[in-house]
Amino acid sequence: MSQPTIESILQEKRLFQPPAEFSQKAHIKSLDEYQELYDKAKADPQKFWADLAEKELHWFQKWDTVLDWQPPFAKWFVGGKMNISYNCLDRHLTTWRRNKAALIWEGEPGDSRTLTYAQLHREVCQFANVLKQLGVKKGDRVGIYMPMIPEAAIAMLACARIGATHTVVFGGFSAEALRDRLIDGQAKLVVTADGGWRKDGIVPLKDQVDIALANNAVPTVENVLVVKRTAQQIQMEPDRDHWWHDLQQGVSADCPAEPMDSEDMLFILYTSGSTGKPKGVVHTTAGYNLYTHMTTKWIFDLQDTDVYWCTADVGWITGHSYIVYGPLSNGATTLMYEGAPRASNPGCFWDVIEKYGVNIFYTAPTAIRAFIKMGEHLPKARNLSSLRLLGTVGEPINPEAWMWYYRVIGGERCPIVDTWWQTETGGVMITPLPGATPTKPGSATRPFPGILADVVDLEGNTIGDNEGGYLVVKHPWPGMMRTVYGDPDRFRRTYWEHIAPQDGQYLYFAGDGARRDEDGYFWVMGRVDDVINVAGHRLGTMEVESALVSHPAVAEAAVVGKPDEVKGEDVFAFVTLEGSYDPSDQLAKELKEHVVKEIGAIARPGEIRFTDAMPKTRSGKIMRRLLRSLASGQEVAGDTSTLEDRSVLDKLRGGA
Ligand code: PRX
Repeated sequence: MSQPTIESILQEKRLFQPPAEFSQKAHIKSLDEYQELYDKAKADPQKFWADLAEKELHWFQKWDTVLDWQPPFAKWFVGGKMNISYNCLDRHLTTWRRNKAALIWEGEPGDSRTLTYAQLHREVCQFANVLKQLGVKKGDRVGIYMPMIPEAAIAMLACARIGATHTVVFGGFSAEALRDRLIDGQAKLVVTADGGWRKDGIVPLKDQVDIALANNAVPTVENVLVVKRTAQQIQMEPDRDHWWHDLQQGVSADCPAEPMDSEDMLFILYTSGSTGKPKGVVHTTAGYNLYTHMTTKWIFDLQDTDVYWCTADVGWITGHSYIVYGPLSNGATTLMYEGAPRASNPGCFWDVIEKYGVNIFYTAPTAIRAFIKMGEHLPKARNLSSLRLLGTVGEPINPEAWMWYYRVIGGERCPIVDTWWQTETGGVMITPLPGATPTKPGSATRPFPGILADVVDLEGNTIGDNEGGYLVVKHPWPGMMRTVYGDPDRFRRTYWEHIAPQDGQYLYFAGDGARRDEDGYFWVMGRVDDVINVAGHRLGTMEVESALVSHPAVAEAAVVGKPDEVKGEDVFAFVTLEGSYDPSDQLAKELKEHVVKEIGAIARPGEIRFTDAMPKTRSGKIMRRLLRSLASGQEVAGDTSTLEDRSVLDKLRGGA
């Protein structure tokens, strides 16, 4: 099973209506209701968002201006004061939700914990006071490098509470990748754990932090806070390192939420692009709060009795928006799972659904494809009847995988929301609303109300139905990224200068190709830049190339995505060696490990092919299109006349 092709999805004509029983109880009950909201938002976006901001969120002080738009820089709810941790916690305490489960956590070795809103509030306040005692102030940056344990969410909310900016780094990233991100964000403090359980082993997070900070490589970091999770042996550096449980003990649980300006920075999250090092995507307070709140409420159709489970890691945007902020702002019960399916327990996801009676389940197509391989006897052996809604995110879902998800996991009764969005967009942009939108397998369907999405050519002209083009957004939205941390020019160049402005209107360029069908449904085809999507993880090919070239044996490297049955794409690297090195299996293995050390296991090349030379144009540009064809074993099609040396191609075909 592979990624959808234009041909396969053009033939996809199946249409699934929302079940009547679902629609009756849903927040948005019909396509007409969706259309009405969509039209209202389109006619007056500012009024649409302002009305929702007033109704759905708590404000210490109301804004003066809804939107200040100096393209490409947007400010939402200017002059307003609020705090997202207040919206996620305090405001629920005066309601019956006070003793409702806020966070249900299932640990990998089978331990578990439930925190009510009152308990989560208490822990967050205490940890916020710990941060203050260590000198963390409003505006400081805090690095969070954690396993999937409640303390990760507690640390995020505690930062938000005192106005510190968090920068969560996925626990699967290497020490080198962590160091780069901490340096770029000038983190003052790092929160980590002694280790995290992962697939029957331990990820030595604290050891990685030690390597990242060695030799004062990140001089801004003053303190490291360590959660005891695995109790393995670690080094504690005097004065710098402290145990979370030591400092949390006896600390006051009284810590009022700091009134933050709407546009104060909430977090930085690094993501890969087609050029240079990863970008620090900046999200701010009020717009992000509103956007994640509304999208969670309407797309997952949250009801107060639901147990909601998003399987992402908090190290990614999906974890930020749809494990922590969106669900908690809505007063939902959000489930966090430390584990991942593995050979010794391939049915663990289905066990979790049965154990907690999960109602809403949100995962990635790569996981679904892996489940298909593991066999439907695993989910069939569990009681999944509590499920009422399914979601997917991270990459295009092929119609076969969609159908399997619908039939085997959803029992043909659960709508599926295929949600298209990005780190940069803050929240979901194109998606069905489950009680309203008929779905087509493989299509993310239609834009969320307030999102003016389009498919255009490079001149910015809307293109015809069923023709491929670039996916763009035409009007600012509250959850959009505000800038690249420390590099506003890069923000402008990356997202706003690829497509010509239309009638003075700037278009946000997502980097994805898409097609819109005759019903106005969007079919996202994947990246149009040098970004690959490996198991739902976004990787810049240039990042992997830089990692390879930093090895002394490598003269030149070109990385492309190779279609993969389960991961969607896999990393395929063409490598030219320095004169004194000879190709060998041993060296290929060493280079793969080198990439893991530089970036993390998610970037490990599936294959390395040694070559004497790269196929280049006369002006010296590597012809990636040819390499992509070669990697996927296809015949090289299209124009090769610009190739400088045609014999290179023959050699590459032979795998020289
Ligand atoms: O190519 C699109 C793909 O994932 C990219 C965004 O990656 P990231 O910032 O890591 O965020 C992932 C989680 C939001 C997009 O540019 N993508 C994400 N969701 C979908 C998708 N492609 C097709 N369909 C989706 N539902």
